[in-house]
Amino acid sequence: MTLTEDPDAQKRRGKREALIGAMRAAVEFYTHRLKNADDASSARSYLRSRGYNGDVVDHFQIGYSPAAWEELAKHLVQQGITKQAITGAGLAGTGRNNNLIDRFRGRLMFPIYDLRGDPVGFGARQLEGDGPKYLNSSESIIYHKSRLLYGLNWSKAAIVTNGEAVVVEGYTDVIAFHLAGRPVAVATCGTALGEDHLDLLRRFSERVVLAFDADEAGAGAALRGFDKAVPGDLDLRVATLSQGRDPADLVAAGDTDEMLKSVAESIPLLQFRIERDLAKYDLHEAEARGRAVRAVAPLIRQHPDPVVRHEYAVLLTKRTGVDLGVVEQAMRSRPAPARSDEPPDMEPPPEDAAPRSPRRLTGQAKAELELLRLLLANEMGDRVIDPEWFGEEAHLRAYEIIGPVVAALEPGEAPDLGSLLADDERPPAVLLRRIAMEARPLESVGSVVNRLKVGAVDRRIERERRALDGVDPASQEYSERFAELIALERERRRLREMGNES
Ligand code: UTP
Ligand code: MN
Repeated sequence: MTLTEDPDAQKRRGKREALIGAMRAAVEFYTHRLKNADDASSARSYLRSRGYNGDVVDHFQIGYSPAAWEELAKHLVQQGITKQAITGAGLAGTGRNNNLIDRFRGRLMFPIYDLRGDPVGFGARQLEGDGPKYLNSSESIIYHKSRLLYGLNWSKAAIVTNGEAVVVEGYTDVIAFHLAGRPVAVATCGTALGEDHLDLLRRFSERVVLAFDADEAGAGAALRGFDKAVPGDLDLRVATLSQGRDPADLVAAGDTDEMLKSVAESIPLLQFRIERDLAKYDLHEAEARGRAVRAVAPLIRQHPDPVVRHEYAVLLTKRTGVDLGVVEQAMRSRPAPARSDEPPDMEPPPEDAAPRSPRRLTGQAKAELELLRLLLANEMGDRVIDPEWFGEEAHLRAYEIIGPVVAALEPGEAPDLGSLLADDERPPAVLLRRIAMEARPLESVGSVVNRLKVGAVDRRIERERRALDGVDPASQEYSERFAELIALERERRRLREMGNES
């Protein structure tokens, strides 16, 4: 009975059907090409090298897009599919002479299905040549990346029976879980995990495990968007995989058990965030313990369940050695105003806090101070120091004072701070005098420099990420920036690995 249906809805449905029809024909074309065409032989051997047999290729409907400019479009037109449907589905764009130009060329094609099982887009992996490693469909009336999860159409049944969904970073990681005999994985399609993705998942399971590599990139991605509230009705958890290896790498190396073990040992997101925050503090120092408790208490307070809040207070006591009573006191006291533009008389400053907003010493800040100490000891040899290594303005200022002085000295000769800084009450001078008096042994130059380089890359990655937010995902600029971002993340991984070796 469609008598009362509004004609607009009917039209929309008709349009959707047309685009899905074009998509179906494209999936068929690409899968057929992969299996039969001569030009797909390198794609086929690539798949074999990744351990994908015919069953896997069939299951995920993997295909190959030929390298020429308009093979798909021509084929679809021959099939009677309209130009509007082809371009509307994002399969081709229009060239100068109004001709159709295929969007995906010379790539391995991973079709992306919606929950009904209709193909709505593609993730397309580069096999050779330049351009981004993965090119995804652009937004269309059938493809909304913020509301799609790759693999969910196949994995939803196993997610329900296992009572758990696993979110991974990439298409091949979803396939890795399938190969591991635990097909419960899904991945976002070239975007960060957001609320809408979680809404999709909570239809099938309360328990959602974010499985990323131990790299901050992964951990950061897992947390972006969830900095404020912990979704109450979801048991959102984090599994950290060994550094620099994604599920696809692990399965390919035969380390399937390790991967499944990491997932089995996942910890709640809140616990993960607490541990990650605590790692920033040197808990041997009384003051740092105090700052750590103050920083973490507000996180715990967000949890809706008082029993769980108590459990975390106990955890915090165990980790820091600070009395449970004190921890619970910190959880009750109101947090310091988050923004400095709040009226100051709203809340008197806490008595015990001499500096108004006690700054926590991050690993980055520690490394910067250590570099300054190495400089004061004239231990940097002829290493070139990059001012970009300093994330903190105050430390950069101090470096600008001490750097040129030390550069003029003989190796091993200590700078004469007395004549340099006497009576100088500017903050950088005060800072230098203070750290010059610290008696701790110096850390190794190599390790400090490595951490600073990682930090500098971190900040560039953050900047790139923010810049990417405002860019049209279909544009050339986006691909270039994305490639830059990936290159930076690779650089960071390389630096981290170097750091681990030294
Ligand atoms: P990765 O670069 O980690 O690739 O991108 P991967 O998953 O390990 O891929 P394989 O195993 O080498 O084939 C992870 C995900 O990020 C998105 C894709 O969704 C990819 O699956 N991505 C990556 C893009 O959208 N564009 C890119 O250029 C790169
Ligand atoms: Mn991979």
